Amino acid sequence: MPTYTPQAFTIAKKFPSAENVWTFGFEGTLKSTPGQFVNVWIPGLNEKPFSIARDFENEIWLTVCAVGPFSTALCEKQVGDRVGIRGPYGKGFGFPSGITPLVVLVGGGYGMAPLHNAGIMHQKNGATVIAITGARSAKNVLFVEECQKSDFETFVTTDDGTLGQKGFTTDILEEILDERKIDLVQTCGPEKMMKRIAEKCRTKGVLCEVSIERYMKCGFGVCGQCTVDGTGERMCKSGPVVDGNYALENIPEFGVYHRGPEGQKIMW
Ligand SMILES: Cc1cc2nc3c(=O)[nH]c(=O)nc-3n(C[C@H](O)[C@H](O)[C@H](O)COP(=O)(O)OP(=O)(O)OC[C@H]3O[C@@H](n4cnc5c(N)ncnc54)[C@H](O)[C@@H]3O)c2cc1C
Ligand code: FES
Repeated sequence: MPTYTPQAFTIAKKFPSAENVWTFGFEGTLKSTPGQFVNVWIPGLNEKPFSIARDFENEIWLTVCAVGPFSTALCEKQVGDRVGIRGPYGKGFGFPSGITPLVVLVGGGYGMAPLHNAGIMHQKNGATVIAITGARSAKNVLFVEECQKSDFETFVTTDDGTLGQKGFTTDILEEILDERKIDLVQTCGPEKMMKRIAEKCRTKGVLCEVSIERYMKCGFGVCGQCTVDGTGERMCKSGPVVDGNYALENIPEFGVYHRGPEGQKIMW
């Protein structure tokens, strides 16, 4: 059962994951599914949603990119400091059982953090995992070591070619989809990237899941802040993870625009 009031968690571990990106470790479990998220509360400042990057072996990880006032204040927290956490919320990634699938995880930006968590779960279910992690530049790429240590077949792309293959995650995914029989693709990252991936998977008839993050306040379906045009669904309840074909066919704003805190349209 998720918690609806923040519980105090002490930061037990903190390490850099990329430039301006920190991973925080807390002791305990949220009994979450990979792809779900929590709301983190800093008293007197605000509360914001973050994906769960690990929730096993009595360790919870959150990977935070400093982009504005809240995330910067969170990244300044140190081991021993406490924050409030409530959740877990939302619908996470799917884990098909009964077969041994070949799964491809495609992460852009901080997207590889929750995907790595999903990959561990796929492995426990007997799946083989391929990870493609991409970013603008070498200093922005996340979780390469974690993917390699977890024995995922790991590919890296950077826009400027400073690490791995020069280009986009979608270039490598397209090659893999052309050459190998993939059962499932799961992706988290920039929405234009995810839309392209969903379209490619639809063409190839490969099951695909995308993580649609919208501006969230309550996190559990009450405030209506995170509804999407087309279906009116609340992404904190029906998402953030949704089927790629479903998103392409029913959510016209997918990969095109999202809404800010006042409901204003912002193009991706
Ligand atoms: C389901 C979900 C999972 C997320 N997981 C992560 C994660 O694992 N790591 C991470 O670094 N970030 C994650 N985010 C984004 C994170 O919530 C925002 O980056 C953060 O709230 C920024 O707040 P700020 O005050 O620092 O920046 P601001 O200057 O307020 O905003 C910077 C940008 O962050 C986004 N943002 C701000 N507030 C929210 C909000 N309440 N809900 C959604 N987006 C917001 C907007 O796109 C905004 O343009 C996630 C968002 C969602 C919805
Ligand atoms: S964030 Fe309140 S309904 Fe989704």
